[in-house]
Amino acid sequence: MVNMKILVIGSGGREHAIAWKLAQSPNCKLVYVAPGNGGTATENKVQNINITKIPDLLDFALNNDIDFTIVGPELELSLGVVDTFRLHNLKIWGPTQFCAQLESSKAFAKEFMLKNNIPTAKYVTFDNDNQAKEYLKQQPFPIVIKADGLASGKGVLVAAKLSEALSFIDDIFTNNTFGKTQTKVVIEEFLDGVEASFIVMIDGKNILPMASSQDYKRLLNGDAGPNTGGMGAYSPATIVSPQIHDKVIREIITPVIEGMKNLGHEYSGFLYAGLMIDKHQNIKTLEFNCRFGDPETQPILMRLESDFIELINYGLNKQLNQIKAIWNSSYAVGVVIASHGYPQNPRKNDIIDGLSEIADKNIKVFHAGTTLKNNQLYTYGGRVLCIVAMDSEIKQAKAKAYQAINKINFAGMQYRSDISDKSFNPKT
Ligand code: AMP
Ligand code: GLY
Repeated sequence: MVNMKILVIGSGGREHAIAWKLAQSPNCKLVYVAPGNGGTATENKVQNINITKIPDLLDFALNNDIDFTIVGPELELSLGVVDTFRLHNLKIWGPTQFCAQLESSKAFAKEFMLKNNIPTAKYVTFDNDNQAKEYLKQQPFPIVIKADGLASGKGVLVAAKLSEALSFIDDIFTNNTFGKTQTKVVIEEFLDGVEASFIVMIDGKNILPMASSQDYKRLLNGDAGPNTGGMGAYSPATIVSPQIHDKVIREIITPVIEGMKNLGHEYSGFLYAGLMIDKHQNIKTLEFNCRFGDPETQPILMRLESDFIELINYGLNKQLNQIKAIWNSSYAVGVVIASHGYPQNPRKNDIIDGLSEIADKNIKVFHAGTTLKNNQLYTYGGRVLCIVAMDSEIKQAKAKAYQAINKINFAGMQYRSDISDKSFNPKT
């Protein structure tokens, strides 16, 4: 396990954080990021490679002595990149295409949860817009509507009234807002409570939990505005007590491993359970993601003190029961800065200034939608940066993150100013 060459697939803030953390290992020679972003372009021991298609990624891994690959985003998992690499005897960290249906189809995930007694909201699935609309007309509000397939966190509407719900059904089936491949919709009961992100590594049988975190999914302060991929996150999440932790492992994570086994499949890779915890400490599963969260990865990996290469290696060798992850006891607060128009209509090519003025070892700027052209950084997508600050006091970590943001400038930048407030007031 020395001089390792690793391939990370993806281009977001999550992949920047993964590559940055892997590169800190004394066992790392080089991390390739495909295709990467403006931040991974300049990171120490990290190199971008401009390839994105699975056959090209496979050729690259075969021809460049890659020791293992980590898949960041859901799209490649849903397209079967893990199955393809394994067919060629390449080591790759992530679930197979079959297991990744837990994320790529909300209908699959709900049916799986029902069959395996995993607590979740009551639901109905429709593959027809008229039937969905007729059903909605009979229901109490609020109600939750979920496009079945991948939608980068934007395919869910918590509808306050019927008119909104009906037009979202049109968005899914008629306007193809979430792509032409959406042919089903899940409609589920509204759950009240506090959300948390629970992410683990699974090696087919053993579980290694990552630190807890909480994500801010709505665009605007106070959880207003549309759902996004995530506008900020902090770790650890105070709501995840040791009792809740044990209950999630017992009632949600272990049944996923067992349920997949019963279907003849082995789950390996990261698994992310989005939780809703009510005032009686009952826990329900809002969703599964088959990868590390974005932006949760950024504050979580900021706190990781273990060698990340070693953790993945134990995972690949099915030995996660033999290792523990060590976390810095400080809080990490990560604030996303998104581009003008995000999430509906993100703008590209705004000049980004001020990053060189941030120099503090407890602050890290992870890039997502950025690109470097002639040494100038430009915006290149929806979520542009995630600024993570660490401190033993969460209010201080928050203050440091926002002080750093004050130094950054690009036209149209949008960010929330309440990231981490839920840690001291769960209803904010
Ligand atoms: P999902 O992608 O399924 O996690 O949904 C995105 C977001 O929508 C969640 O993080 C919640 O904020 C909200 N949400 C999803 N399902 C429900 C539900 N049944 N009740 C209340 N809010 C929900
Ligand atoms: N932050 C939510 C997600 O990664 O899906």
